Amino acid sequence: MSRLLVCPPDFFGVEYEINPWMRLSNQVDHKRAVSQWQTLMGILEQDLGAVLERLSPIPGLPDLVFTANAGLVVGRTAVVSHFRYPERQREEAHSGHWFHEHGYDVMTIDAGLHFEGAGDLLGFPNVWFGGYRQRSDVGVYPILSERFHREIIPLELVDSRFYHLDTCFCPLSGGELLYFPDAFDGNGRQAITKRIPDELRFAVPSGEAVTFACNAVCIGNHVVLPDGCPTTQDWLHRRGYITHPVQLDEFIKSGGAAKCLTLALD
Ligand code: ARG
Repeated sequence: MSRLLVCPPDFFGVEYEINPWMRLSNQVDHKRAVSQWQTLMGILEQDLGAVLERLSPIPGLPDLVFTANAGLVVGRTAVVSHFRYPERQREEAHSGHWFHEHGYDVMTIDAGLHFEGAGDLLGFPNVWFGGYRQRSDVGVYPILSERFHREIIPLELVDSRFYHLDTCFCPLSGGELLYFPDAFDGNGRQAITKRIPDELRFAVPSGEAVTFACNAVCIGNHVVLPDGCPTTQDWLHRRGYITHPVQLDEFIKSGGAAKCLTLALD
C-alpha cells in the first residue's frame, strides 16, 4: 500500500511567475482545477489503492498543492525543502510542522542551500538522481547521499521549462525510465544512458514532454499521467503498465501535473 501526501487546491492559483509556464495573464479556472484534482485523487485512491494524507491548504500559499516539493521522505526521516524563490519559502514552516506532527524526524539542509524535495530527487531503489541548477543546488546531493547511504547522480537541468527533475524524468516500478533527453546536457544524458539500459528507457517526444508526460505517478503496474500523451501511453502498454490519463491543464498553467501533486510517504 502506498501513502501519499496531497493538499486540496482550495487556494491554488497563479499569483506570481517563477517558471515559464506561469503567466499572470493565464489565470486558473478554480472550479475546473478542483474537479481535475478530485478526479486525480479518485484514481489514486480507487484504482491504485493509495492512502491519501491531507496537508491543510493555506490562503496565500497557492503552490502548496504541489506536495512533491514539501520535502523528501526516506523511512521515518523527512528532509524539509528550502525553496529557491521567496514566494514558496513561506511553505517551508507549514510542511515542516506537518512532518513533525506526524512523527517524522525532520531534517533541514544548511541554510544557504536550496532543495525542492521529491520534485528534484527521485530514482530507483539502488540509485537516485538529483536535478539541479533551476531550483535545487547541486551541493545538497553529497549531503543527502551520505545521510541516506545512496548513490545520487546529479543531473543539470538546462531547459527552464523543465525546472524540476520530475517534469522530465520519471522512474517506473519495473526499472524503466520515461525522460525527455533535451532537458539535460550531454553529461546528464550520458549519465542516464550509462545507468539505464536502452530497452528500459523511453525518450518522450517533445510534444508530449510539454504536456507533462514525465510528471506521472507510478504505483505497481499503474501509471497516472496527464492526458494527451498517446505515444507515451503506447510504450507503457507495451511494457505491461495500465495507464490512467487525467486532464490536468489547470495545474499545467502553474507548471505542474500528476506527480507534483503528490508526495510519496513510504
Ligand atoms: N508553480 C510551482 C513552482 O513553480 C509548480 C511546482 C511543480 N512541482 C514539481 N514538483 N514539478 O514551483
